[in-house]
Amino acid sequence: MRFPGVLALDGVSFSLNRGEVHALLGENGAGKSTLIKILAGIYTAGSGELYIGGKKAAINGVNDARALGISVIHQELCLAKNLSVAENIFMGREFKKLSGLVDKQKANLEAKKILEKLGSALDPRTRVSGLSTAQQQIVEIAKSLSVDAKIFVMDEPTAMLAKNDVEKLFEIVKSLQQNGISVIYISHRLDEIFTLADRVTMLRDGTVAGVRNVTDTNRQELIKMMVGREIQQFYIHEKRNISGGVVLEVKNLSTIDKLRNVSFSLKKGEIIGFSGLVGAGRTEVARALYGIDQISEGEIYLNGEKVNIKSPQDAIRHGLALVPESRRDDGLVMIQNVGFNITLAVLDSFMQLVTTNKQKENGIINSFFELLSIRASSAKQIAGELSGGNQQKVVLAKKLATKPVILILDEPTRGIDVGAKVEIYKVMNKLAENGVGIIMISSELPEILNISDRVIVMNDGSVAATVEGSDINQETIMTYSLGLNKHE
Ligand SMILES: Nc1ncnc2c1ncn2[C@@H]1O[C@H](COP(=O)(O)OP(=O)(O)OP(=O)(O)O)[C@@H](O)[C@H]1O
Ligand SMILES: [Mg+2]
Repeated sequence: MRFPGVLALDGVSFSLNRGEVHALLGENGAGKSTLIKILAGIYTAGSGELYIGGKKAAINGVNDARALGISVIHQELCLAKNLSVAENIFMGREFKKLSGLVDKQKANLEAKKILEKLGSALDPRTRVSGLSTAQQQIVEIAKSLSVDAKIFVMDEPTAMLAKNDVEKLFEIVKSLQQNGISVIYISHRLDEIFTLADRVTMLRDGTVAGVRNVTDTNRQELIKMMVGREIQQFYIHEKRNISGGVVLEVKNLSTIDKLRNVSFSLKKGEIIGFSGLVGAGRTEVARALYGIDQISEGEIYLNGEKVNIKSPQDAIRHGLALVPESRRDDGLVMIQNVGFNITLAVLDSFMQLVTTNKQKENGIINSFFELLSIRASSAKQIAGELSGGNQQKVVLAKKLATKPVILILDEPTRGIDVGAKVEIYKVMNKLAENGVGIIMISSELPEILNISDRVIVMNDGSVAATVEGSDINQETIMTYSLGLNKHE
């Protein structure tokens, strides 16, 4: 598969057994999504053959893929939000009454049967807009089951899920497997591979770096196959003396929706980890600080001075930068090139009268390409064409280019491959060394434990605890996250 300037897949062979969970791994930009988009009929391969059940097959569009029993659950779920669960499951294939009218009752009944098979008690009449990500994913899976798909493809399905929802998804995948369904499973979380997969195919630069039975390999080998070198030190966090003064102080912050009396402070050069369950209010803290959500009560002080941040523009002016959870919602102009995106927020600084200072602009762009090992054919490549993880890196570069005083990172390594994760931790350390105060929201507990100087644990819109030193351990943080301390 060739795109202008990139050979995304170069002679890749891949096989999938019946009833197998086959993990497809590789660095950001290795070609995983491209391969499954070919199977889904979104792209047409430049060359190669495809066999299903031993018979030669051709996929020249999404309908072909569907007819062959291939169903892809994309990372960005694509359900119709204003329709019900049942309407989504049977969309385009509605049951009709003799009168020709849509038979909603039958749809609800059939949907219920499928959902029950998946162990879900979801009411088929519920509107999708009111569902959690995990529930929406179940609807997608139910939809695939209803068309009798035999091959399920899941592209980073757990990236947006809370821990117990991940476990539920695993159960579903296992029950699919018991019913003879085969699953191609993409994830950057290696632990998942060892609980779930039977085999692994590793892609590297568009070629197959290796195929292993999961029982015959280990984490180190997979990482080495993926990045082509051993990674000795995974979490990079230098124990620094944080001598800088308080740069940010938040007092009794509340918002209309979610936050109640949130107080904390951040020093220059400090990395604070925000931990808690999905929905605890961590992202809302970021949004309130950045002027997106309206503050109903409380105060924010920057370097001791009270500030009134009413919009992201205000926040940027005060030296704040937010790298949001979802790279699509904010940050990237998908139809513009990578270089444009990186320098978008700092354009003013190299405008010389009417022309831009190309040299300075290119200097900035190149330095970030190197710093974050961004994989693109050049700075001229369109952002929407980059792999998911590389889009994430471009958002980070864009924010770093503004030289923030306070950097807020919401799930900074979600969807990022292991090699690049290490790079991101390095960058965070360097920034902290240079006095930048960092707020890191993360659902990855090891990341919280290893990277933070202090940890703030949130529960139900409030700060449950601020943890330091040897208290930064899994047990303490989980106790506060789950609100267990309240019942003592
Ligand atoms: N529509 C496109 N036009 C041009 N290049 C593309 C297009 N889609 C993908 N590419 C390129 O093909 C390569 C493989 O991308 P792909 O999205 O398959 O990576 P990936 O393995 O899924 O990575 P990630 O883990 O970051 O999601 C990348 O270099 C990417 O920039
Ligand atoms: Mg991808």
